[in-house]
Amino acid sequence: MTEEKPVPGGNTVLVKFEDGIAWVHLNRPEKRNAMSVELAREMNSVLDALEIDDRCGVIVLTGSGEAFSAGMDLQGFFRSTDAITDVERHRAYRETRAWQWRTLMHYAKPTIAMVNGWCFGGAFTPLICCDLAITDEDAVFGLSEINWGIIPGGVVSKAISTLMGDRQALYYVMTGEKFDGRHARELGLVNEAVPTAQLKERTRELANILLEKNPTVLRQARMAYKYAREMDWELAAEYLTAKGDQTTFVDVEKGRDQGLKQFLDEKTFKPGLGNYDRDG
Ligand code: COA
Repeated sequence: MTEEKPVPGGNTVLVKFEDGIAWVHLNRPEKRNAMSVELAREMNSVLDALEIDDRCGVIVLTGSGEAFSAGMDLQGFFRSTDAITDVERHRAYRETRAWQWRTLMHYAKPTIAMVNGWCFGGAFTPLICCDLAITDEDAVFGLSEINWGIIPGGVVSKAISTLMGDRQALYYVMTGEKFDGRHARELGLVNEAVPTAQLKERTRELANILLEKNPTVLRQARMAYKYAREMDWELAAEYLTAKGDQTTFVDVEKGRDQGLKQFLDEKTFKPGLGNYDRDG
């Protein structure tokens, strides 16, 4: 009898596997999934485990209960940390930064944020650092910090500047006004805003589209985009040429050869009309 592999997380992070999708829930529903130090530790170990777990081809990051996340745990990060040593505070921030942006931004597998309710402050960072995002059109977003005496810190101000225009970002930083999922779509924070009843199904549909792709090429394409956007044109051209060659080299499925053969020789596939046959 083969032993079932344990499911990572189980406390402040809940993972459910479903046909290649790992639904990763921020799991402190009684605290509206406010992100604590404990959650950061558990999320780091969950993301680490899922990266090499065959049951996970795509991650969907979402929240248990009625919130995606109410942001940083104000008790844990702004009050309890007053009572701890500087080294402990440093560790808490390091562990939070690790999962919220460093790991998510360069994760080996595609990531989708599914915003299912409240999304405040610090929650903007993992939302933005997932590759794609879908929201409930009635979800409520807010950079609420200004309304109670702090700035959008952590790395929130930097994160929003990558997706929102300066006028819009500063408007919400300075007013702390809330907005809904439909407006989050207009602001470019998410790909789509859908009615509550369709949120999970539409997210599943998108995850399944990603699962059908050649995983190596998908990873290389995501990374190429994320690094190239930080470069000037000359460097980006050189980097992307080299990255393209490297992709061909590391792709065990030999997707490029397959695609070229099916288009040029066999005439069975037209890139303008669909996908090449990955099984050849
Ligand atoms: N940090 C710590 N605890 C939080 C929290 C946060 N960011 N957000 C919610 N909680 C706690 C509440 O203190 C409450 O705890 P209690 O049951 O021990 O009293 C519990 O979660 C439920 O919150 P509550 O406010 O009662 O739920 P609600 O459904 O009425 O309202 C929100 C939900 C999200 C509108 C509200 O909790 C809120 O405004 N939270 C703060 C959001 C914010 O400004 N975040 C920015 C942080 S960077």
